[in-house]
Amino acid sequence: MPIDHPSPLSGASYSAVELLPDDSALLLLEQRRLPDHEEYVRLDAVGDVARAIEDMVVRGAPAIGIAAAYAMVLAARRADSFLRDMQRAASTLEAARPTAVNLAWATRRMLSLAERIADRAPIERVAELADEARCIHRQDVAANRRMGELGGARVPDGATVLTHCNAGALATGGYGTALGVIRAARDAGKRVRVVADETRPYLQGARLTAWELARDGIEVTVIADSAAASLLAQGRIDLAVVGADRVARSGDVANKIGTYGVACLCRAHERPLYVAAPWSTVDLECRSGEEIVIERRSAVELTHFDGRRLVPAGAHVENPGFDVTPARLVSALFTERGEVAPVGEAGLVALA
Ligand code: MRU
Repeated sequence: MPIDHPSPLSGASYSAVELLPDDSALLLLEQRRLPDHEEYVRLDAVGDVARAIEDMVVRGAPAIGIAAAYAMVLAARRADSFLRDMQRAASTLEAARPTAVNLAWATRRMLSLAERIADRAPIERVAELADEARCIHRQDVAANRRMGELGGARVPDGATVLTHCNAGALATGGYGTALGVIRAARDAGKRVRVVADETRPYLQGARLTAWELARDGIEVTVIADSAAASLLAQGRIDLAVVGADRVARSGDVANKIGTYGVACLCRAHERPLYVAAPWSTVDLECRSGEEIVIERRSAVELTHFDGRRLVPAGAHVENPGFDVTPARLVSALFTERGEVAPVGEAGLVALA
């Protein structure tokens, strides 16, 4: 059954995730069907949302945090034993994807409210939790706008910007982190061109970043990940900007696999690499990149394309979803609390 287009809370014309006005279910844009199909799926059970996060119906660190916050509202609606069921829901959601800290950040924020309102009537608890989840969503959009202002100021007029994966409206509550920086530069009247790594093996750059930017009328060129080196060598890239899934206290940044390669290339060619991430992505309890758990994804994402086997059976396959870029390779980190440069513990703790 076709599902009505939601009214995105961000004010955009599409949205990765929304809670229905009556709090009964959430709508996810089915990102696996993009760019060909713009379809929404309706989910009203926590287990279904956890599966949708794991299977990447919704993806991107802030967007999965928001989806998890809304899923906690669904848990409250169905709870028999309120706090026990809320804790179970949080554990189920947190297990869906391990690297992006936004997921556990959001469930813990919702759990902490649940504990404070446990003695209220069920209907009031659901209403309070829904307000909190929408607040998380709104704050994310506002954070993206603020980061965009900070980062956009570092983008020169006429710049060609390299980005990796998708850190746009589809990966957030709306507007985007890395793509928010690009959008803000464009909105400030600058001419900006984007070069999007296709982002093997899941192709978030080719499928999602290109879709978003083309829709916004921002010039975008998709390249094979392996082409970035020669474009930088030819002086055709002015800077790179990416998002993050977790920023450790040391300033080390976990982001989509391949980001570390982009960072090394930028350093070799003396171009800045910027990271844009909301404070919900900063994990001060995690001391350095070595402590970040890297998600290992299914080998099928590499061995098959569109149902067809590309890699011979019997070959070993490794498919880490993320890598860690050491703080020293990041020129500046933009958060809604301010800019951190040089990137490291002192700058992060000052903002905390
Ligand atoms: O596996 P994905 O698509 O969820 O990975 C997404 C990324 O790595 C993004 O760059 C990151 O979450 C930042 S999104 C604003």
